[in-house]
Parts: sequence; structure tokens; C-alpha cells
Amino acid sequence: MNWISIATPDQLQDGEALGVAVDEHRIALFRHEGEFYATDNVCTHAFALLSDGFLEEGCIECPWHQARFDIRTGKALCAPATQDLQTYPVKVDDGQVWVAV
Ligand code: FES
Repeated sequence: MNWISIATPDQLQDGEALGVAVDEHRIALFRHEGEFYATDNVCTHAFALLSDGFLEEGCIECPWHQARFDIRTGKALCAPATQDLQTYPVKVDDGQVWVAV
């Protein structure tokens, strides 16, 4: 597991998402109730970037066909997505947000 700095905490307000490319990974970083969470950024249904979606109550809604995922667990909550998202460990340290890939 490799910790990589991908943002500073002040880049995201609560309820916002940021898409970040890390090597071959497309990662979505979310801020919810002061905590940071990271998942794959590409929807498991088709190719849409979840960082362009709508974040509410800890769930991200895909901007294309409105599947919803829990950003804390990656769980797919409704159709048309049936496959969960991969999640990544996140920590805030030394003024940076780090994701383990
Ligand atoms: S691409 Fe996300 S629900 Fe279809």
C-alpha cells in the first residue's frame, strides 16, 4: 500500500467531490461531515465520473443514470449499478490529504 498526497484539506468544502488521477487510478475524493472518503471515480454501471455527481447524506449519485453509492463503503445502493465501488483508505496528515492505493 502506497500513501499518496492528492489534495489539501481546504480544497474541498463539506458536500463536495474532487476527481484526481493517481497513476492508473481515477479516484474521487469526497468530504462529508468533516471527514474525507475516497472511491473509484468511474461508475460501475458505465463510464461516468462520480466526482461530477451529487453528494448528499454520505451517498454519491451518478450524474448519468442516477445510481447511488455509499461513499463510506462503496456499496451500490440502487439500480442501474449492481457492482460496488472500490474504496481507498484516507488520512489527513501534515496539511495534506493522503490516499492509499
Ligand atoms: S453510468 Fe452511472 S448509473 Fe449509469
